[in-house]
Amino acid sequence: METIRTVAWMKERARAARREQRIVGLVPTMGALHAGHLALVERARRECSPVYASIFLNPKQFAANEDLSRYPRPLEADVEKLTAARVDGLFLPDATEIYPAGFCTYVQVEGLSERLEGRSRAGHFRGVSTVVMKLLEIVQPHFAYFGRKDAQQVRIVQQMVRDLNLDTETVVCPIVREADGLAMSSRNAYLEGEDRKAATVLYRALRAVESEIAAGMRDSLELQRAMHKMLASEPRARVDYAEIVDAETFEPVVRVERRCYGVLAAYVGKTRLIDNMLVEPTGDDLRVEV
Ligand code: PAF
Repeated sequence: METIRTVAWMKERARAARREQRIVGLVPTMGALHAGHLALVERARRECSPVYASIFLNPKQFAANEDLSRYPRPLEADVEKLTAARVDGLFLPDATEIYPAGFCTYVQVEGLSERLEGRSRAGHFRGVSTVVMKLLEIVQPHFAYFGRKDAQQVRIVQQMVRDLNLDTETVVCPIVREADGLAMSSRNAYLEGEDRKAATVLYRALRAVESEIAAGMRDSLELQRAMHKMLASEPRARVDYAEIVDAETFEPVVRVERRCYGVLAAYVGKTRLIDNMLVEPTGDDLRVEV
């Protein structure tokens, strides 16, 4: 696997592949790779050659009070994982390569960026859409791979791709979970002892909603109540939000009748975790994917 540290070199490599009519795939990451990231790489490898992964811990998507300074950075282990997964190239720019002195242009997807995660994490999505825009412009991949765990992020990237006529298709891959249901996340590394056990309450809250839906409940207030009840049963958890929202707009829905997400964010100890479930109509029934 080749390590590519500059924008110019990355552009040159990816454009050469395009000229050769090859299908270019990109898996953007912030490092601290886990099985969820590797599932994205695996899917990309089935559909593209070459496959590039990027590791860039994007400072612009962290608010001043957030965890940028302690975010895990196991670069050596990440490189080993990507090499074993047979990624062709790792784009590993430093911060000045992406944001040179004088950088002042941002991408803001309005509306969608202000809800839920955007409400709790001021400026977060502006940082995400700006860096993803830059990565898509630098690599110009045919396909870019994202995990559904960050459902709102994925929706924002899709909107940006559509609005700015980018020549990339976003591919959304299922959530990968630990054996006990905890969604894989780089931030799980912060969870220790009792907090790690308590963290499964997010998954249990989604499962509670799934059972209600299976029993015929369609009223979102009732479904939200089921989520809150489960979250409240765990004394180490503090809910930020737990809502049922439309899958396109991320606005609350009254009844679960169209494509929507059950989304939740909660602190377990000091660690903020998010998770979600997708609900999709299939004929006269609903399919639930946790
Ligand atoms: O999901 C992430 O890891 C990041 O938000 C992304 C998409 C790599 C942008 O920094």
